[in-house]
Amino acid sequence: MFVEIIDLLRARRSIRAYEDRPVEHELLQQLLVAAMAAPSACNSQPWEFVVVTQPEILDRLRSKLLFARYNAPAAIAVCGNPSIAHNSVSRKFYWVQDCSAATQNILVAAAGLGLGAVWIGVYPLPSVIKPVREILALPEEVTPLALVYVGYPAETKPPSDRYEERRVYWEQYEPRKRRARHKNAKYE
Ligand SMILES: Cc1cc2nc3c(=O)[nH]c(=O)nc-3n(C[C@H](O)[C@H](O)[C@H](O)COP(=O)(O)O)c2cc1C
Repeated sequence: MFVEIIDLLRARRSIRAYEDRPVEHELLQQLLVAAMAAPSACNSQPWEFVVVTQPEILDRLRSKLLFARYNAPAAIAVCGNPSIAHNSVSRKFYWVQDCSAATQNILVAAAGLGLGAVWIGVYPLPSVIKPVREILALPEEVTPLALVYVGYPAETKPPSDRYEERRVYWEQYEPRKRRARHKNAKYE
């Protein structure tokens, strides 16, 4: 069981090409169940989600977001809303982490359900937050953290293989290991 979970985590890749067919409502609902199973600081759950399947709204998002021009038939906006958070400390400090955990849960659940998905970064870039807020009619207290595009994949990718021993320290950090060179992150 444990190994299967690691396999699933490695199999999850960003999918940016989708089949021209909708995602069933039940599957979208499962993704939201997965999202809300995420941990959050003090169990604060400061999240809200906007599920978009209308082609006109998806088109508007695509037209405004440079790095989101993919043909997904659905998008889930993961939003933070401090005013509904269960805990005042986490409300102030942790909504980004909480919503990020929910976002990752959606991505992993999508992979497990045979769907493709990609995290489109929104927060903290004002130039991205603004159009998303406008298009989705988000009130002021609701901030979009990410869009997750979802659909049936029209591309396949190998599982990631990113384990690097040199990134790992046991018990205490060792400065001499800092010679590690960073790989350039790039879309692939
Ligand atoms: C915070 C964040 C923002 C991202 N924003 C975008 C984006 O705007 N557009 C995009 O195509 N991919 C985006 N990605 C996906 C990354 O490019 C992708 O996760 C990374 O290249 C690793 O590839 P993989 O997801 O296939 O393992 C984002 C990922 C994260 C975590």
